[in-house]
Amino acid sequence: MGSSHNNKSRIFTPCTRTHQIGALLLVTTTFFLTRLFDQSFSPCHSSPVNQDGISHRNHVHISDGGRSISWPERGYGSHLSLKIYVYDENELDGLKLLLYGRDGAISADSCVKGQWGTQVKIHRLLLQSRFRTKKKEEADLFFVPAYAKCVRMMGGLNDKEINQTYVKVLRQMPYFRRSGGRDHIFVFPSGAGAHLFKSWATFINRSIILTPEGDRTDKRDTSAFNTWKDIIIPGNVDDGMTKRGLTLVQPLPLSKRKYLANYLGRAQGKVGRLQLIELANQYPDQLESPDLKFKGPEKLGKIEYFQHLRNAKFCLAPRGESSWTLRFYESFFVECVPVILSDEAEFPFQNVIDYTQISIKWPSSRIGRQLLDYLATIPDEHIEQMIAHGRQIRCLWAYAPETEPCSAMQGIMWELQRKVRQFHLSAETFWLHNGSIVNRDLVEFNNWKLPVRLP
Ligand SMILES: *[C@@H]1O[C@H](CO)[C@@H](O)[C@H](O)[C@H]1NC(C)=O
Ligand SMILES: *[C@@H]1O[C@H](CO)[C@@H](O)[C@H](O)[C@H]1NC(C)=O
Ligand SMILES: *[C@@H]1O[C@H](CO)[C@@H](O)[C@H](O)[C@H]1NC(C)=O
Repeated sequence: MGSSHNNKSRIFTPCTRTHQIGALLLVTTTFFLTRLFDQSFSPCHSSPVNQDGISHRNHVHISDGGRSISWPERGYGSHLSLKIYVYDENELDGLKLLLYGRDGAISADSCVKGQWGTQVKIHRLLLQSRFRTKKKEEADLFFVPAYAKCVRMMGGLNDKEINQTYVKVLRQMPYFRRSGGRDHIFVFPSGAGAHLFKSWATFINRSIILTPEGDRTDKRDTSAFNTWKDIIIPGNVDDGMTKRGLTLVQPLPLSKRKYLANYLGRAQGKVGRLQLIELANQYPDQLESPDLKFKGPEKLGKIEYFQHLRNAKFCLAPRGESSWTLRFYESFFVECVPVILSDEAEFPFQNVIDYTQISIKWPSSRIGRQLLDYLATIPDEHIEQMIAHGRQIRCLWAYAPETEPCSAMQGIMWELQRKVRQFHLSAETFWLHNGSIVNRDLVEFNNWKLPVRLP
């Protein structure tokens, strides 16, 4: 194997000879375990083996045109080293409005629930993180907490107030000004992405945006997502399903599942969803699509929802208001293979997760009998295999504390580390032979006066 590596790949495989020539092509929790237990990672240690017989160090391979490259080097690097400053709610006038609404009446505990809970969870996890620093001068990155999606949904601020409050907060941030916002992180947990802040394009278009929505072709003229700087994050699956140990609803054995596929969701007037509901009416034995009530006495409870979800081999995840869909993430916790029917959807951690091994993506223009026929041809053994792979990576969807060796937050940290840039303003930064970093007028960086205009 070693001899087949060219120079470029060699930097990723410092101890080739110790590698098994593996067949397993997926990222597993392996890597995250390694990171946690050994911050000063040395890739040449011998490899402990877990119960599955899969080595916990350095034996997970990702195929790359016939060769195999060892994980984690291919994905991210050898160790995490990051300092993140988290703005305090009392430090900036207006920040509390973005967290708790105009009367301060909206509780973080209510905002942490539901599909947009990531805005609270990421904030809380960063406050606890070993990568947090309280010194701005040493920070690589700065986190600006806001629960604006939740605050807006609960009537705590309207769009105009959200916009004005963000601008007010940004005006008080000298470090934001220093970098033009390039080293500042914002979470926008819904399909609207950064559009939640109406004037985002003027004020935070250089900042790092964490959002589940990677669709760059949404109905607005300007997409708020930029692959150079932004990060796609997993949606927020209910804690009751992601906790290790006994979850609210346990998966069913494949043979016990009643349906080939299901779709759990409302039509919301969306073409793909209407087609699925129609298809379920035509083929009720194969495709379950219960009429979901989200209000009133017939509202489906959390447990009932997951009990439906687990009762099929395939969980269909069509596009909704926007391209990302929480159902995709949820399906892993009932061990149902997700079928993505959202053409522009993009997924997190794609450099290390092989999505072809854990899910199916089918053109939404081909929703119909053909889809059910196709799914019916897939042998159970293959489905079991996809489920097994999904079981290995689903820890990356759970917003668990840093003490967990594998979690969404670990993945996000690795992504964030890749976003640390040496230069503050890429286009407007220059450097000389001796390492001096200067601006267009050849003034040294340290002497720059407000390189960026105040918002
Ligand atoms: C957002 O607020 C800023 C500052 O108050 C203002 O200049 C801008 O026009 C607002 N944007 C929108 C879309 O209202
Ligand atoms: C960001 O916004 C500023 C101010 O409106 C503008 O000058 C700049 O071109 C924008 N940058 C990008 C990358 O869109
Ligand atoms: C680097 O070179 C420039 C141009 O000769 C000079 O002005 C600057 O002081 C030098 N910087 C350092 C750190 O030596």
